[in-house]
Amino acid sequence: GQLATWSGPVKTVLSPVCTRDASGRVSQFELGSHPEMGIVESDAILAAAVAAYDSGRGEWPTMSVAGRIECMQDFVQQMAAKRELVVKLIMWEIGKSLADSRKEFDRTIEYIQATIEALKELDNGNSRFAVVEGTIGQVRRTPLGVVLCMGPYNYPLNETFCTLIPALLMGNTIVFKPPQYGTLLFEPLLEAFRSAFPRGVINTVYAPGELVVPRMLASGDINVLALIGSSRVADHLKKQHPKSHRLRAVLGLDAKNAAIVLPDADLDLAVKECVLGALSFNGQRCTALKMLIVHRSIVDKFLKRFAAAVNELKVGMPWEPGVQITPLPGPHRTAYMTAAIEEAAEKGATIQNDGGGTFCQTLFLPAVVYPVREGMKLYREEQFGPVVPVMAYDDVEEALQYVITSDHGQQVSVFGSDAEQIGALVDPLVNQVCRVNINCQCQRGPDVFPFAGRKDSAEGTLSVADALRAFSIRSMVATKATDQSKK
Ligand code: G3H
Repeated sequence: GQLATWSGPVKTVLSPVCTRDASGRVSQFELGSHPEMGIVESDAILAAAVAAYDSGRGEWPTMSVAGRIECMQDFVQQMAAKRELVVKLIMWEIGKSLADSRKEFDRTIEYIQATIEALKELDNGNSRFAVVEGTIGQVRRTPLGVVLCMGPYNYPLNETFCTLIPALLMGNTIVFKPPQYGTLLFEPLLEAFRSAFPRGVINTVYAPGELVVPRMLASGDINVLALIGSSRVADHLKKQHPKSHRLRAVLGLDAKNAAIVLPDADLDLAVKECVLGALSFNGQRCTALKMLIVHRSIVDKFLKRFAAAVNELKVGMPWEPGVQITPLPGPHRTAYMTAAIEEAAEKGATIQNDGGGTFCQTLFLPAVVYPVREGMKLYREEQFGPVVPVMAYDDVEEALQYVITSDHGQQVSVFGSDAEQIGALVDPLVNQVCRVNINCQCQRGPDVFPFAGRKDSAEGTLSVADALRAFSIRSMVATKATDQSKK
């Protein structure tokens, strides 16, 4: 409904994928367009969310848990019917392979179902009575208010819904801004939002983030900032709220996850997991391995096998069967990768594959950079793309220090065979990051596990049940117990 009546300016979306015709001519195509709203519309959208929360008697915020679950089930059913269209839009908008786009969609449906189940269990069905010292306390889990949800381009559907769905199920009202890349894919779901939930509960704003988001926060009407995106943006946005203590933040941010490869590691396993960890979806995952730290005694052998495995990856357009490396969302991302490896080369690193020479300006062949040292961009910056920095260590304390002195604290992988040595590393590491992976790559799933980060990497914990807690507060109704009620 919201879009059907729009007669204002629109923004054209260009797909990052390339097509080649019979004569070899390469072109990119326009995928569609969406409204380009301004501050008048975004003010009205925020006002609608505030009104739906404040005057929502009998509607969303005060609706029973069972009632909210019913609405959500209705939504999921409608969403499932749009699967193929949404999947194709994910693929065309962000260049994710068709197989991975399908996985993203199905994982999101599973996440919603798991969140519904967790809600039924939460606090024994969300309302608990206790009689203590003559007072009957009914403890309820209650919403926080208006939640501003923004997801990233790499998991545009899944990571938007990882905050939006639990926030909604807890009775909050939502202002939702689709990611800059990954906007059109929400359009088929707008009608389902409208028909499954009461008016004003979900409000979609199509506008440049820098224009409307700081303004919405500055109004003081946003109660929760739910952002999966960059640490820099989160930092900037939090400062816009006039009273910081009134704003709760649920954030999934930058990461620079390292893999530490011990001298006795099973090299085949380590190489396989590091290739997947570093380069699945072109390295565009917050959980990706973004630094490989390999013991000097095996680094040459490791690099040889790693580079060979990288060369085996299938490069192409996202609809090609088995494709693993696909276009990045825009030429600015390939330019970033090129600049990062050029700088490393100038400072003495060897580059296996310079990323260039493909027929499509958004396609970047994965590059392996060794040795990466302090002072190079790739040493600390989150590259978020198909460039793999590698360094060697002599004493495992050096690898540990890399993690300890990092500004990020999401995950680490450790590869080795000696359980005692790994155990001795795990204890200090798990106090520096929020997940240590033994002999496997870093990743978020299974989604019921806690997903969090320290330092610049996150605020709050996202998983199924943790997210429900993050978007709610325990309130209570207290009644003096009468002699009758005490019986
Ligand atoms: O981009 C960050 C995502 O949370 C990564 O999830 O590890 O399942 O790919 P994933």
